[in-house]
Formats: sequence, C-alpha cells, structure tokens
Amino acid sequence: MKHLVVLTGAGISAESGISTFRDSDGLWERYRIEDVATLDAWHNDKALLTDFYNQRRKQLLEVKPNYGHIGLVELEKLFQVSIITQNVDNLHERAGSSSILHLHGELTKVRSERYEELVYELPPDKYEVKIGDLCEKGHQLRPHIVWFGEPVPMIGKAAEITQQADILLIIGTSLNVYPAAGLVNYVRPDVPIYLIDPKDVAINRKNVFHIKKGASEGVREFVERVIVSD
Ligand code: OAD
Repeated sequence: MKHLVVLTGAGISAESGISTFRDSDGLWERYRIEDVATLDAWHNDKALLTDFYNQRRKQLLEVKPNYGHIGLVELEKLFQVSIITQNVDNLHERAGSSSILHLHGELTKVRSERYEELVYELPPDKYEVKIGDLCEKGHQLRPHIVWFGEPVPMIGKAAEITQQADILLIIGTSLNVYPAAGLVNYVRPDVPIYLIDPKDVAINRKNVFHIKKGASEGVREFVERVIVSD
C-alpha cells in the first residue's frame, strides 16, 4: 500500500464550525497571540489563559467532524494514511483516523506546568480546568498546547513520517507557522503534493496540484482522482 501523509491545519475544521486563525473572522483577529498563546502570557495571567482554553474546549463539545475528516478515514482502505495535524481539536480522532500526530498539542489534555511529562487526558465531557487543579506533584495544570516560542517536540517524528510519503496531501493550512510549514521540504523529490484550500498557498515545490475547494468537497475530489488514477 502506498503511504499517504496528510498535513492538516485549521481549515479542515472550519466547516465543523471552528474558526481558523488567519482568515478574516479568524481567532487571531479577535485575540492577540501575545495575550493568549505564549508562556509569558501564561505567567502573566493564568486565570485568563485557563478560561480561554476552557472556552475552546467547550466549543469542541458542540462540533462534529465534517467530510474532510471522515474522507481521510475512508482513504485508509486505499492507503496507509498518516495524519500530521497542527490542530489542537480532536476531530480526526472522533472521525476515526488511526494514525494522528499532533504537532501543536491537544485541547483535551492538560499537563503539569512544572513537569512536562505529567500529561493528563480530561474526561470526555469535562471542559473546565480551574486555577488550583494540580498535578500529582502539586503544580498547577496548564493546557497541553505548544505556545509560540516553545519547542515543538513532535517535529522530528513528523519529519521522519513526511520523508516516507508516497503522496503528500495538505489541507487547510496557510503554512505560515514554522517548523510545521517546513515539513514540505522533507518529501522526496518526485512525490506529488496535493493541496486542498480555497485560497492560494505558496509552496515552493514542483508537482503541486491545487484543489481549490473547501475541505469536504476537496477531499471528495481527491478521493475521486486517486481512485481514477489507481
Ligand atoms: P491558518 O488560519 O493560518 O490557515 C487556515 C487555512 O485554511 C487558510 O489557508 C485558509 O484559506 C484555509 N481554509 C479556510 N476555510 C477552509 C475550508 N473550508 N477548507 C479548507 N481550507 C480552508 O491556520 P493554520 O495554518 O492551521 O498554532 O495555522 C497554523 C498554526 O497557527 C496553528 O496550529 C496555531 C496557529 O497560531 C498554534 O497555536 C501554535
């Protein structure tokens, strides 16, 4: 079976009702990164950040995977599929994909602010974390999110997976944020790259096929194209 590596970003969850970051109604239009997505912000106001991520988690309980996520599960009949996602939502998991790597962390997990290896999965219906909720060693729990300026621990593993791709499929990311955006440079030279995004995204490679559509329609078209070419 060929290995299909899929790099996803906020755009794949847009049709589920989660806004992206950099579109006109995006999260970074409403909040400043420095206020809610850096370690300094956390030290500045832990209550504000705890509340911000509680709201993001609450929203997760109200949304469902769309055909963009579900189509990637169906593709497992045709390919070995590895998903590398920049998203912190759990919609790939809920759709049923079997191999998912989260580059930027996971909303449904929290960890000790002191001991980063102490990571806890929240119960499925619990979205609220409070100041005073502690790890087993007595330190405050923080969101299990990679904030700006923090290392991206999974990037090495993601690069390894990308090197093994026979096809790379990129869905719904503006490729503005590194090191995630640099993963496209790890694909072997002749590997075709499919891009599903309603807008243009700069990718400095040959063999890029742009399906200029939203995630659901775009994944449908990708499935049709690969079935025809097989
Ligand atoms: P962006 O908001 O930067 O980009 C979203 C992309 O999705 C854009 O290219 C849109 O055109 C596209 N898009 C919008 N609607 C779509 C749809 N229905 N179907 C398909 N694509 C659609 O989001 P990301 O590239 O994911 O990091 O952002 C990368 C990182 O920046 C995030 O993981 C987050 C953010 O700050 C952290 O928080 C560390």
